[in-house]
Formats: sequence, C-alpha cells, structure tokens
Amino acid sequence: MKQINILGIESSCDDTSASIIQDGILLSNITAGQAVHKKYGGVVPELASRAHQANIVPTIDAALKEAKVLPQDISAVAFTQGPGLMGSLLVGSSFAKGFALSQDIPLVAVNHLQGHISALFLLEKNEKRTLPQFPFLTLLVSGGHTQIIIVRDFFDQEIIGQTIDDAAGEAFDKCAKVIGLGYPGGPMIDKNAKLGNPKKFKFTQPRVGELDFSFSGLKTAFLYFIRDSIKKDEHFIKENMNDICASLQYTIIDILLKKLKNAASKTGINQIAIAGGVSANSGLRNAITKQGELQNWEVYIPDFKYTTDNAAMIAITGYHKFLNNDFASHKVSPNARLKL
Ligand code: KG4
Ligand code: ZN
Repeated sequence: MKQINILGIESSCDDTSASIIQDGILLSNITAGQAVHKKYGGVVPELASRAHQANIVPTIDAALKEAKVLPQDISAVAFTQGPGLMGSLLVGSSFAKGFALSQDIPLVAVNHLQGHISALFLLEKNEKRTLPQFPFLTLLVSGGHTQIIIVRDFFDQEIIGQTIDDAAGEAFDKCAKVIGLGYPGGPMIDKNAKLGNPKKFKFTQPRVGELDFSFSGLKTAFLYFIRDSIKKDEHFIKENMNDICASLQYTIIDILLKKLKNAASKTGINQIAIAGGVSANSGLRNAITKQGELQNWEVYIPDFKYTTDNAAMIAITGYHKFLNNDFASHKVSPNARLKL
C-alpha cells in the first residue's frame, strides 16, 4: 500500500514550524523561533507575520530534507487554521494552499488546540510508549488557553471547565514581567523555581466554579506583593528571586491540580493528560505524576519537545483527519478565534 505522508505547518503565533508524519510516525519537526520579539517583552503581531514569511520556505524545505521525503510524495498538507494571530495564520494557510495546488493534493485544516492534545499521540521511529486510551481528561494549558477537556475521540472533545480570564501561561508570563524576567517568562520561572522554597510566600486562591479557573486575581495580588515588598527593601526581588518563582509556580500548579481532581471525581475518568506550552513546566509534570500515584490515575504527559508550539502536533492531527477523509476546501480561511 502507498505510504501516507503528511506535511504539517504551524504558524499561529511566533514559531514557524514544519513537520512530516509518515503512516503516523514522526519523521521530522523543524521550528524556527523569532528572536525579534524579545526586546518588546511580548509577541508583536506585525513582526511575527513578517518573520513567518521569511522563515516558511526554508523551514518546510528543512523538514522535507530531514524526513527524506520529496514534495511530490506528500499525500496532504495540514495547516493550523486557528486560534492564533491572524497575520501569522495567513502565512501558513496561504503557503499550505499554494503547496496543495502545486502538488494537486488535499488540504487539511487543523485546530491548534486539537493539535496540542494530539501531541500526546506522537511517536518517533522505533519509539515504544503507551498511548492514551479514550476517554481521557486533558488539562490544556497554554499561553492563550486553560481548559479541562473530555477527549472521547480524536475529534469528539468536550470542554468541561475553563478560565474566566487569563490563561495559566499568561499568569506565568505576566508575573515574570513584574520581576524583570524576559519573555516568555514561563521557562525562566520554572528554572528559578527549581532552586527556591515553594512555601515561602503565600498567594490567595481564586473562588470560581468547581471546574473553572481564574488567574487575573493572582496576577494583581502578585504585582501588589512585589510592589509593597520593594518599598520595604529595594533589593527584595534579587534577594528572593528563586523563592518568589517557586512560590508563584507552586500556587499556579495547586490551582490547576485542584480543578483537575474535581474533574476526575465528577466524571469518574481516571486517565489524565496534560497538554500545551505550560505542560513543559517541570513542577507541573512532577506534581501530576505524584498526584497520579496518590489518586490511582493513569497519567499521560507529552514529550517535552512537543509541549510548546510545533508542527508535529499539526501533522499528526492532519494524519487522523486524512484517514477520516476530512478535507478542507480552498475557500477555507484562518480563524483567529477558532474554538475547540
Ligand atoms: O502552547 P504554547 O507554546 O503557545 C500557545 O498556544 O499559547 O504556550 C506558550 C506558553 C507561554 O505562556 C509560556 O510561558 C508557557 O507556555 N511555557 C511555560 C514553560 N514553557 C512554556 N510555562 C511554565 N513553565 C515552562 N517550562
Ligand atoms: Zn499552542
């Protein structure tokens, strides 16, 4: 039987990424980051789309070469339809359409959030790993989303809880900015937290619905706490950096896990996964593993490489859509606010 080769393209935010999946196995995943945003302390949409435009051809070329697959051997091209930044999404979707037309192959539109969940199913060549069994619960935590989802199948998913304001990733990034860490701050907080005392400073927990989240109160409380502490001691941040990071991270993880426990007991599902950029956090990865042992959960954590934005997750979702004959017309347009 002919091999199925899927080219996946991700360009929803500030990473241009291309990947090849062959018969469900990952052959390549190449990502070009965008250093241009660093000095602005956040992603500048106009600069992001320009950088995608510059990076997309070399990134796809590198993904094809690494996979040793020729453009004419691609069976379908999958691209991120949304959610994300419109200008960034337009670059990936336009390229995908052009590529599909040039090779006369189908186009597959992929929801970025579904992609993060599908990353749990990525397998590299000769990799042996237990894959999640349906149904399972996923805590999807990224820069723009914080949701608890019942995953009944690749494309049958129900959101049962979500943030009413900021996402967990935003809480990490905004608090990191307050203490002078660069963007994105999540990885820096994680690094410093490893050396700090998580119980040193206490932050209040939000009061919202039993499966919902709220992080804006924590962000404000953190800002006031730092401001007041600096008034008393101008070197407060420097002298307490690791403890501040550890305490903040501990609070965010505590909020996330409490809701996940509620969701597991409410649904009776004890297969639990995490996904999205914040699932790269070492504290969250450890905490969920530990909680899994305590609660008798089967825990699934994506490979670290595929937690933050990447095209491998788009390609594997595209592969399953391809098997379902779920193709997009060339009239499809990106949707910056696409929902799960
Ligand atoms: O999934 P992602 O790459 O992009 C979106 O779809 O939003 O997630 C990015 C988010 C950022 O907020 C970033 O700070 C956070 O993931 N992040 C982390 C870590 N690595 C990335 N947060 C905490 N600890 C980390 N190690
Ligand atoms: Zn993402």
